[in-house]
Amino acid sequence: MKVNGKNYRTIWMEDSTVKMIEQTLLPFEFKIIECNTYSETCDAIRTMMVRGAGAIGAAAAFAMAQAFMQAPPTEREAFVLKARKEIEGTRPTAQNLFYAVNRVFNVGANSLDEAIAEAQRISDEDVEASQAIGKFGNELIYDGMGILTHCNAGWLAFVDYGTALSPIYTAHHEGKKVMIYVDETRPRSQGARLTAWELHNEGVPHAIIPDNAAAYFMWIGKIKMVIVGADRIAANGDVANKIGTFGKALAAKALGIPFYVAAPSSTFDENCPSGRDIPIEFRSPSEVHYQSGPDKRGVQHTIRVCSPTSEAMNPAFDVTPAEYITGIITEKGIILPNAEEIKKLLA
Ligand code: MRU
Repeated sequence: MKVNGKNYRTIWMEDSTVKMIEQTLLPFEFKIIECNTYSETCDAIRTMMVRGAGAIGAAAAFAMAQAFMQAPPTEREAFVLKARKEIEGTRPTAQNLFYAVNRVFNVGANSLDEAIAEAQRISDEDVEASQAIGKFGNELIYDGMGILTHCNAGWLAFVDYGTALSPIYTAHHEGKKVMIYVDETRPRSQGARLTAWELHNEGVPHAIIPDNAAAYFMWIGKIKMVIVGADRIAANGDVANKIGTFGKALAAKALGIPFYVAAPSSTFDENCPSGRDIPIEFRSPSEVHYQSGPDKRGVQHTIRVCSPTSEAMNPAFDVTPAEYITGIITEKGIILPNAEEIKKLLA
């Protein structure tokens, strides 16, 4: 997608260097950072300089390829095994991370060139899948529609185009008038910071709403459809996504509003029988206690926003049971969230 008229991917690899948009600085500063070793790429994933299912997957693929490049010939096997563990330990919920590491690890055992090519392939496939999701999801959007989205499942969360936002971009480019309701998505505010920035860059009409306002906008008839992304989809169609997603699905179901999940096949995990088996990441309570941002002069501050003596709990994701989901928009078409359809998709 374009930033200041120039085309960017969220993350890419040149020789042995992984380059990415530093997402913790957005929307206030646009900066490309470089990770020269697999450990530096791991740090970028852990600290969320790169985040979002597909972008994490690409970062993990590149990190695994970097590990093969760095491995000393005499202890290659032990080195890449240790690296694999380290990469897989960065974030536990996004299935794309495990999917990507596995693919690069398997081919890398035979050839370094193949490991690098496989990582690049994973990144390219992510772009193609996102584009196809945009095409299928666009069919659900009519002129004048109000759509709610949660967190950021736009191009920043993937290598390009995104999932939940990809149908919206396609509809907008076709000239359909849409209005996007953007959940702010506390505590890290991916909606308010990233989705809003993306939509602004593309000229898509939108408004940031407080996390607790979505049911109201559904009830007064402004929101006609919900589209969210996914971090992992279990074999029975239960979906792990950013914390707060389940609440939106409950409200949508109660009010008869379609609730769609957009995700590529690489996000499905056949080894997780149900949502209860998906590991949910708990992040630092400090993300709840403190907020950061620039003042009017652009000077960055971190301020405490709640009682100084209270503990906080910070689950990063929740699970929406399949029965609350209308359909899943994939790169192969829109499917129902059930075991049969998922098996067919992955066959
Ligand atoms: O914690 P994050 O920002 O890496 O979370 C991932 C997400 O952006 C969301 O859960 C998103 O809706 C699905 S991933 C495209």
